[in-house]
Formats: sequence, C-alpha cells, structure tokens
Amino acid sequence: MARGFFITFEGGEGAGKSTQIDRLASKLRAKKYDVVLTREPGGSPGAEAVRHVLLSGAAEPFGPEMEALLFAAARSDHVEQVIRPAVSRGAIVLCDRFLDSSRVYQGVTGGLDDDFMASVERVAINGMMPDLTLILDIDPREGLRRATARRDKDDGPDRFEKETLAIHQRRRDAFLKIAAAEPERCIVVDASRDPAEVEDIVTAAVFAALAERLPATRTAQA
Ligand code: TYD
Repeated sequence: MARGFFITFEGGEGAGKSTQIDRLASKLRAKKYDVVLTREPGGSPGAEAVRHVLLSGAAEPFGPEMEALLFAAARSDHVEQVIRPAVSRGAIVLCDRFLDSSRVYQGVTGGLDDDFMASVERVAINGMMPDLTLILDIDPREGLRRATARRDKDDGPDRFEKETLAIHQRRRDAFLKIAAAEPERCIVVDASRDPAEVEDIVTAAVFAALAERLPATRTAQA
C-alpha cells in the first residue's frame, strides 16, 4: 500500500495554524485525499489525558525536564495510535504542532540540554519524522494580540502563552533556525499576511510537495 504523507504546522502563538489547517484539509478532501486532522499536545485518548496537565501549568512546578517527558509521552502515544497507522494506510496527516514545538518551547526556551532533547525526541517519534513542516512565522506582538482576541473572555492565557514577549521572540528565532537547518523539510510562511494569501501559499507548497513525493496515492484515489 502507498505510504501517505505527514505534514506538521508549527509556529508561535496566534500564527493562525488551526485556520490554515482547516482550510487545507477542505481543499485536500475536495481532491478526494484521505485526510486526518490532528493536534498536539493530544490527538489520541492517551495524549489528550496528558494535555490538560501540561496546558493548565500543573506540571510546571516539577521543572522543564518533567514537562518535556510528558510532551514526549503524549507524542509517543499519538504517533503509535493515530499518526503511523494513518500514514501507513496512505492518508495525509495534518498535525497542529509536533516535535519542533518541543525543540523550541522545552529545548530552547526551557533551557534543556541538546542530548537530553535528542534522546527524548528519538523515543517519542520512533522514526516518524514529518515529510513537510510549515512554519507559520509572525511577530510575537501580533501573534499574542490575535491569540488574546480569539480567546473566550473567561479563559486566561495558557501555561505557555503567558510568558514574556522576550521568550516568544526567542521561540520565533528558534523556529526560523530549525527551518534554516532543515530546508528540505521546512517551509517558512509569512503569517502576518491576510489569511487568504497565507492559504494560497500553504496550498501551493503542499500540492507541490504532494506532486513531487506522492504521485502514486493521488493516482490511486483520483
Ligand atoms: P494550544 O492551545 O494547543 O495551541 P496553539 O497551538 O494554538 O498555541 O497550545 C499548545 C501549547 O503547548 C502551545 O503554547 C505550545 C505548547 N507546546 C509545547 O510547549 N511543547 C510541545 O511539544 C507542544 C506540542 C506544544
């Protein structure tokens, strides 16, 4: 059976990842692709159980290693229960955040050691590297403004949103550094543009990648 395609969306807060993922999913489904939409932390029952612990800040007092291991535990379950089976059956998996978020949030701004992070990542993904990663890049001031505007008035910022602007700026730089180091996997998209323009850029990038790397599946399902 043809192997599917695994696409991750990354970036800071308020970059518009979920809007873009939904729009891309509709376009792919219109072309009869089998699409699986998922997110992290979460995406499988086991990982969703850990999500609240992470986003509420309940694990924060136990330190960044603890948080990194919890993200990894959630990711491992998500990979084995959802992502790998879907990609194996030939689906296109669209995932809102994945390993680059851990590299950036826990590794860089959590100040964790590179060897520790690399070992944890290896165990968590067990070879399931994304085929394509779209990094939605936005000035954190604008991203945080958008994230605040879309939040329900009763909800406060989550554990990671509430950090200082300087930390969000370091995260932006860290995502751009990953993209520069892995240009064959990562594409940086200017997310400050109008959402319709961002959608066009994302769509073009994804369809180009699929045409290059997934001709068999497309033919099979056309
Ligand atoms: P979420 O509310 O899902 O939203 P968004 O992707 O729209 O920001 O929040 C996920 C938060 O968890 C986000 O602040 C980034 C953080 N995170 C990590 O710190 N490490 C990780 O490995 C992942 C997947 C997320």
